[in-house]
Amino acid sequence: MSRIAVIGSNMVDLITYVDRMPNAGETLEAPRFALGCGGKGANQAVSAARLGADVLFITCVGDDLFADGTVANLEACGIDTRYVRRISGASSGVAPIFVQPDSHNSILIIKGANNSIRPSTIDEAADALRQSALIVLQLEIALETVYAAIDFASENAVPVLLNPAPAVADFDPARLSKLDFLIPNESELALLSGLEVSSVETAFAAARLLVERGCRHVIATLGENGALYVGQDGEWTVPGQRVRAVDTTGAGDAFVGCFAKFWSDGHDIRQAMQEAVAYSACSVTAYGTQSSYPDAAAFQTFCHERSAA
Ligand code: RIB
Ligand code: NA
Repeated sequence: MSRIAVIGSNMVDLITYVDRMPNAGETLEAPRFALGCGGKGANQAVSAARLGADVLFITCVGDDLFADGTVANLEACGIDTRYVRRISGASSGVAPIFVQPDSHNSILIIKGANNSIRPSTIDEAADALRQSALIVLQLEIALETVYAAIDFASENAVPVLLNPAPAVADFDPARLSKLDFLIPNESELALLSGLEVSSVETAFAAARLLVERGCRHVIATLGENGALYVGQDGEWTVPGQRVRAVDTTGAGDAFVGCFAKFWSDGHDIRQAMQEAVAYSACSVTAYGTQSSYPDAAAFQTFCHERSAA
């Protein structure tokens, strides 16, 4: 089986389900709270692993009470944690998240130990990274580490995927041109291209611009409207799936992890996108972040029930 290497963040998600957000100076009671494992890097690693992928995850945890739980969770998913470092004196990454009744969320991130994932971390894991079928990156760690990983991937001819989340305005265009896959959502696509993205047509225009700048394959996720592709293989859309959404937290990460798994297993890009749209749709029907990611069997059941309906 081909191996996926994820280099990125882990967070402990502190999820508060709210009726509405409090105003400044106001104290408001919220109905429910849940603690869960999150962080964009970990979410992508876990979703791929739950689907049966062989995953190496490179990250840093703190030396607080969250660290053991985070590592235990990764190991329970069968993820190779040999490059998970504990940083003494640092807090683990945490993410206070507020989920509204309409299933949409607001997220704060405190990166903590994730800031200690450095370019030297790439060097330490170089042999393992060279043997990977795909390197998967996000933007919740130091930008210079992301750049070092992209440079490493292109020097060693290892395919590299960037999910540019959370969005940054000043991403280096030279690094953009070294990417095999760029998977932004609509707001990240707008920020990277400098174009307004407010419809499928404008999303196509923005994605074309990024392909002109050198990115081989751009896949934009469009929430409930599915995803679109622009790149060397042409252009197309994959329609969204209608589901009863309760919590959209981590749906983009579910898409990326699932896409990485199916593409590195040899499926073509369109097939991998179709699986990823279905997988992320399944994730929004359950509460929480990683707690809402189905394993291969549960995902198959979800797909069968939908095709029977
Ligand atoms: O993409 C969702 C994730 O963003 C959450 O798990 C939270 O930890 C933040 O990193
Ligand atoms: Na969810």
